[in-house]
Amino acid sequence: MKVDWTPLFAAAEHARAHAYAPYSKFQVGVAVLTQDGAVVEGCNVENASFGLTVCAERNALAAVQVLGKKPRAIAIRVDSAQPTPPCGACRQVIAELAPKDLEIRSRTADGQEARYTLAELLPHLFDKSFL
Ligand code: THU
Repeated sequence: MKVDWTPLFAAAEHARAHAYAPYSKFQVGVAVLTQDGAVVEGCNVENASFGLTVCAERNALAAVQVLGKKPRAIAIRVDSAQPTPPCGACRQVIAELAPKDLEIRSRTADGQEARYTLAELLPHLFDKSFL
């Protein structure tokens, strides 16, 4: 299935608008396309106890899991000057739940885009094959 990124980024922008980021002011919206064609959104949710903050990617992936679905592609919408990749913690969680050929793209408000594969972002990953 070819990924239609236009509606996926529209959903990511919708999610970004709901980000709860009063401390960092860094709003992140994510939309995950599932393997059966659903679109599931997530935003970052911060906390006064800073370490409890959860990234948009992990919130979106948890919602995908609740639906019993599997990710196919991830769109990340940020407001920064350049597109940003998922943080290290999120890469590990993506690796746990997503297939090896997952596509990841990040875009800014002015349309700059970066494209990533999971293998690029997390080489030598630790996963269940070692357990
Ligand atoms: N953040 C995400 O939601 N996703 C990322 O991949 C990077 C960081 C959030 C966490 C925090 O709320 C804010 O961005 C600044 O780090």
